[in-house]
Amino acid sequence: TWNMGSFIEQTVKEIRERVGDRKVLCALSGGVDSSVAAVLVHKAVGDQLTCVFVNHGLLRKGEAEQVRRIFSEKFKINLVYVDAEERFLQKLAGVTDPERKRKLIGNEFIYVFEDEAKKLGQIDFLVQGTLYPDVVESGTETAATIKTHHNVGGLPEDMQFELIEPLRWLFKDEVRAVGEELGLPAEIVWRQPFPGPGLAVRILGEVTRDKLDILREADAIVTEEIFNAGLNKQVWQYFAVLPSMKSVGVMGDERTYAYTIVVRAVTSEDGMTADWARLPYELLERISNRIVNEVPHVNRVVYDITSKPPGTIEWE
Ligand code: XMP
Repeated sequence: TWNMGSFIEQTVKEIRERVGDRKVLCALSGGVDSSVAAVLVHKAVGDQLTCVFVNHGLLRKGEAEQVRRIFSEKFKINLVYVDAEERFLQKLAGVTDPERKRKLIGNEFIYVFEDEAKKLGQIDFLVQGTLYPDVVESGTETAATIKTHHNVGGLPEDMQFELIEPLRWLFKDEVRAVGEELGLPAEIVWRQPFPGPGLAVRILGEVTRDKLDILREADAIVTEEIFNAGLNKQVWQYFAVLPSMKSVGVMGDERTYAYTIVVRAVTSEDGMTADWARLPYELLERISNRIVNEVPHVNRVVYDITSKPPGTIEWE
């Protein structure tokens, strides 16, 4: 294990020497790895780094604002914020097949990123938040063959960059330690994994703005309640899913016909296998009550009690 202080010092020195006075680009997702990599490179080369953050409209509640606040305002990093919500929603209209959704989002992400990169002129380096386990496992990860995984920030194929991978010798816990040492807030350092295609793989069937709004509100309640219960570091992932299914219910004297929300919470070491989290009944009850009372168009909440395998963590 590294001493994080000296790791940072040494890495910053190496990046600075390698980059010289050239320019560096980073696709920032707001995830732990790309965030720590970006801040580390920024420490080394300052304004020679530009980060591009693509809001594909499939993010969780408050996420885009959080990224802008932290990277642009707190760390004073050059941040290009791209509001591509409309572009992605138009592409996704009418698309129901899970693999097509993923491919479409992955490709569109690269087009948007390329458009932005071109506007920045000559760029020589691209920052990637690759970790040691990614280096070791690349090519052998079995999940990748089960679903088309894409990381936001995937490398556009025909772009010529040299890669800067400052985290390639670190494990996840070391990355978090570096992040804390660099002053990144806990909300970033302890963020749960979030798929590149975002909420699109948590809405079964067609993705629409209305469904996204419903899911975002329900998901925010799940997140808040797990956090308030102090379970956010023990549970690997916790989120809401919208299966796009409606059922009958009753509220007051009225019959309702509205959406079901699935709550998914799993414990895991690495995401390759997972067990459903034994959340306290009182917590589940609070989550259920709040979602049905606070989120319009939802009248039922169910809890997913499937482990991986045979289930996957995500629903698509
Ligand atoms: P599954 O659903 O296959 O997910 O059990 C395993 C882990 O990978 C995450 N995941 C993704 N991450 N791009 C990503 O960067 C993706 O397309 C993607 N799909 C799933 C998932 O959230 C879980 O942590």
